[in-house]
Amino acid sequence: MSVRITPSILNADFSRLDEEIRKVAAVSDLIHLDIMDNKFVPNFTFDFERAAEIIAATPIPVDSHLMVIEPERAAPAFAEMGSASVTFHFEAAQHPRTVIREIKKHGARAGLAIKPATAFSEVAEFLDEIDMLLVMTVEPGFGGQSFMEEMLEKVKAARKALGENERDIWLQVDGGISPNTIQSAAQAGADTFVAGSAVYKSEDPAQMVKLLRDLATL
Ligand code: DX5
Ligand code: ZN
Repeated sequence: MSVRITPSILNADFSRLDEEIRKVAAVSDLIHLDIMDNKFVPNFTFDFERAAEIIAATPIPVDSHLMVIEPERAAPAFAEMGSASVTFHFEAAQHPRTVIREIKKHGARAGLAIKPATAFSEVAEFLDEIDMLLVMTVEPGFGGQSFMEEMLEKVKAARKALGENERDIWLQVDGGISPNTIQSAAQAGADTFVAGSAVYKSEDPAQMVKLLRDLATL
């Protein structure tokens, strides 16, 4: 199974983002861009305009994670801006299937995210169309929180269902991923790993990405 490491710039220095992204670009698969609207989560990151600038300036594919209400409106816009992948929250969507189709229509991979309280069974019906399932391993909103071990069962349930599916669907985990936790997430079946503070609080972010990749490669 191929492993993807997708560093989150949430904990990078926003005043010199280009440089922060360049530190990890050569060793990363995608850059994870967290979009928060201060409504779906109690935090705000970037407006559409700034997000578009970041996507345009990033030399590798961008994985946009939308923690916003009304993904019906935001998700197609992020696909149009050039994100390689756009993930929205199941809990925020009135019409998840429409959002998935709109993202794909605009040329991006479609990801569906679930918060810790949402069971995998609630989204199983969308495996016929999504390109990635994101199992949150913390409550969305902030970087630097502790990995929720109890989410591993959900990752396992998702992996089992994905194994029965013929489409190439990525299984991503986000929150608290570090050298201490990535192996258990990989063993449970995750193949795509977001890491924010582990990467950007380390002395050598690129080296940390490499270490995480080695640890996740089973
Ligand atoms: C949290 C975001 C994450 C965040 C992860 O809501 O979705 O992508 O950057 O940060 P760490 O890796 O520090 O938990
Ligand atoms: Zn995220």
